[in-house]
Amino acid sequence: MNKTTVVYPGSFDPFTEGHLNIIARAAGIFEKIIILVGHNSSKKTTLSTKERVSLIVEVTKDYTNVEVESFNGLLVDYIRKKGVRTILRGMRCHSDFEYELQMATANKLMDKEVETLFMVTESQFSHISSSLIKEIISLGGSAKGFVPAVVEKKLIEKLRPEEKRRK
Ligand code: PNS
Repeated sequence: MNKTTVVYPGSFDPFTEGHLNIIARAAGIFEKIIILVGHNSSKKTTLSTKERVSLIVEVTKDYTNVEVESFNGLLVDYIRKKGVRTILRGMRCHSDFEYELQMATANKLMDKEVETLFMVTESQFSHISSSLIKEIISLGGSAKGFVPAVVEKKLIEKLRPEEKRRK
């Protein structure tokens, strides 16, 4: 069977267990997955691009067909330059649909060769959102099961700096 390369773009601030579950499932379907740490102009990130890339490299190191990159411009420009035409996105719940439809349609209008495919998030991860995780951690809670341990550690360093000083 012929397999294809897909780009899995996102802010990944942070990369969650839900993202990792999409990668685990997609790694068996597609020939190669490029996880692309992108810039969403409506979000201010907690983790730098370098930190997000290095955490994702660490948590996906067991997947031989996964690469991690970052970009700053338009997603369709990156895709065209790479010679890829398929975008993969996860869909958690119906409220994601409007936003995803808007992005997929805009990308299609900018480049009609580009296709967006969606994978539905498994139900045990559908409640996980990056903003919720950051709120839980900043208020002293545990995000175990929501994010990989290395990601939680980095978020604690960033969001609870007083703990680092006390140690
Ligand atoms: O995880 P997010 O924040 O939903 O990811 C959004 C992202 C980064 C994929 C999107 O904002 C994006 O593609 N940004 C790059 C700039 C771009 O192409 N904007 C037009 C999107 S229709």
